[in-house]
Amino acid sequence: MALVTLKYVLENARKNKYAVGSFNFFGLENLRGIVKAASENKSPVIAMASTGAVKVMGEKVVVVAAEKLSEEYGVDIVLHLDHCKDDLEMLKRCVDNGFTSVMIDASAYDYEENVRQTRLAVEYASRTGCSVEGEIGHIGGVEDEIVVSECEALFTVPEDAARFVADTGVDALAVAVGTVHGFYKLPPKLDFDRIKKIHELTPVPLVLHGGTGVPDDDFRKAIPLGVLKINVGTELKVNGYFNVMKDFTPQVKNSDPRKVALKIVDKCSEIVTEKINVFGSADRL
Ligand code: 13P
Repeated sequence: MALVTLKYVLENARKNKYAVGSFNFFGLENLRGIVKAASENKSPVIAMASTGAVKVMGEKVVVVAAEKLSEEYGVDIVLHLDHCKDDLEMLKRCVDNGFTSVMIDASAYDYEENVRQTRLAVEYASRTGCSVEGEIGHIGGVEDEIVVSECEALFTVPEDAARFVADTGVDALAVAVGTVHGFYKLPPKLDFDRIKKIHELTPVPLVLHGGTGVPDDDFRKAIPLGVLKINVGTELKVNGYFNVMKDFTPQVKNSDPRKVALKIVDKCSEIVTEKINVFGSADRL
């Protein structure tokens, strides 16, 4: 069992018409929960660390933990760096240490600068075969240290998406189509026509960010339109981690953190299992 590339798992997803869940982790407990769910459901998964999570855990530790959990649970997984902005050195360290996928997010810059930075990432990652996700248009919300108000979110222009893929050589493309990061204040309104148009014009799999709080039926509708990677973070962070600690810790006798850790593993695994079933990726390994 091994860490496999994003390109590889998304090619299988495309052929067999499902999407692969990409789940944020911030510690060993929730990484274990993600890999456990993948194994129990025989599903491909993408375990992703934000730059903030990599800073806390260290890229070498993250790679070894992901490799060993993949072996322990007998399941291939993708190890992905999420939203790397303005830190090409971190992206390079992740590639050098064995991440199998990285996201370069220069979407806040103008088109030329976005292309320039994304190409640098693609050139570097291609040395080892590591996959690269880029972003065109700008997905709003709260993502680690990134704060963008919802109204500033800029939807992806389909023609720009096609040009961006041709100019950069990315393996997957994050698009702004009505989702935002974090909990929604109002129900999300996905622009399915835009997703369809982007898909018609671009050859690479599309990535839907901001999966927390998106209705299951919206996911089911987006997958046949070319969305093959779906990111879920906040649900794991808040429901899978923080709320478990908050609610369960007072009940634990002798302040034993191991008991809380086990609850986090199980809750994260439960959340990931739910998504796997909606995305149609169970029994695909
Ligand atoms: P949510 O936190 O809204 O689920 O989004 C996660 C994400 O898109 C990470 O890139």
